[in-house]
Amino acid sequence: MSQSHRKVGTAGGVSRETSSAEVSRETVLDTPIAREALQAVNVMNIHRERWPKPPDTRVITVANQKGGVGKTTSAVNIAAAMAMHGLHVLVIDLDPQGNASTALGVDHSVGTPSMYDVLLGDGKIVDVVASVEISETLFCAPATIDLAGADLELASQVSREYRLQRALIGLLDAGQDLDYVFIDCPPSLGLLTLNALVGAREVLIPIQCEYYALEGLAQLLSSIEMVKSYLNTGLTVSTVLLTMYDSRTRLADQVAADVRAHFGDLVIDSVIPRNVRVSEAPGFGQTVMTYDAGSRGAVGYLEAARELADRGRDGHAQAAQKSNDEETS
Ligand SMILES: Nc1ncnc2c1ncn2[C@@H]1O[C@H](COP(=O)(O)OP(=O)(O)OP(=O)(O)O)[C@@H](O)[C@H]1O
Ligand SMILES: [Mg+2]
Repeated sequence: MSQSHRKVGTAGGVSRETSSAEVSRETVLDTPIAREALQAVNVMNIHRERWPKPPDTRVITVANQKGGVGKTTSAVNIAAAMAMHGLHVLVIDLDPQGNASTALGVDHSVGTPSMYDVLLGDGKIVDVVASVEISETLFCAPATIDLAGADLELASQVSREYRLQRALIGLLDAGQDLDYVFIDCPPSLGLLTLNALVGAREVLIPIQCEYYALEGLAQLLSSIEMVKSYLNTGLTVSTVLLTMYDSRTRLADQVAADVRAHFGDLVIDSVIPRNVRVSEAPGFGQTVMTYDAGSRGAVGYLEAARELADRGRDGHAQAAQKSNDEETS
């Protein structure tokens, strides 16, 4: 804070040396609107800051079988923030609800080439990918309502757990330039989520700072262990993200403390605040990063995404892998 600003802030303390131009500039910068404008400049990356690319494509499944904890919101907003900072990002919508496709403004009406064709037909991911308006480095493989029957339809198929993994290997072997792939899962531990866990290297678990937040986590973690043992030894829980944090409640702090005590360094330092702008954005086919770049929700996701990208560069994912391996050995 500058000297002149401090003078303005103290009661009756406008010094004679402070020019009126300085007073108005500093005063304006200290208003909520100015703060939001500054935040928006950061979120929209007006200064064209570039975040670090990971050494290899990071394929991250966003999973929690508990409904409404912020899986989709986290996947699309982190993906958008990364793409706005120069990274090449693909969001794979694996939820028949198609919420990620909606939030990214991508068509997912019946008949649209979608992840259904990839999992249950001859489609390749590259054939169903749509570009996303926010950024030329952001893409989405949409989900249509057809996926609702996929759990049952997949059940009788050969290699039913490996469908997505094979499609992803095909995509990456074809030399697609992707830094991050986020897979948005439905709220269940059925075959769609199983495909996502088998196809990914990392799992990101969003946890809502609410009652019963930790309930059901044991079941998710044991499913992940099962996948690691039998289907995808390279899988690791690399990231936990606290969502919908309401600073007015003591409960939110308690949940956050419990989660940090349990998951330690895996928990992203930035916490996503509960913010109405986040929940409004999908209604306009947008992420909060563009819908209201100056909002607290956008800033929360910007910081979380930045941390995830920094951890990727620092080899955090590999470190998490090592500690997960040590835990299970
Ligand atoms: N930080 C936030 N502040 C306010 N509302 C939020 C926030 N994050 C998510 N929401 C809202 O909470 C609801 C659930 O979020 P979201 O759809 O991301 O959860 P989900 O885990 O993907 O749900 P599902 O299990 O149904 O797929 C949505 O209406 C979303 O807009
Ligand atoms: Mg969802």
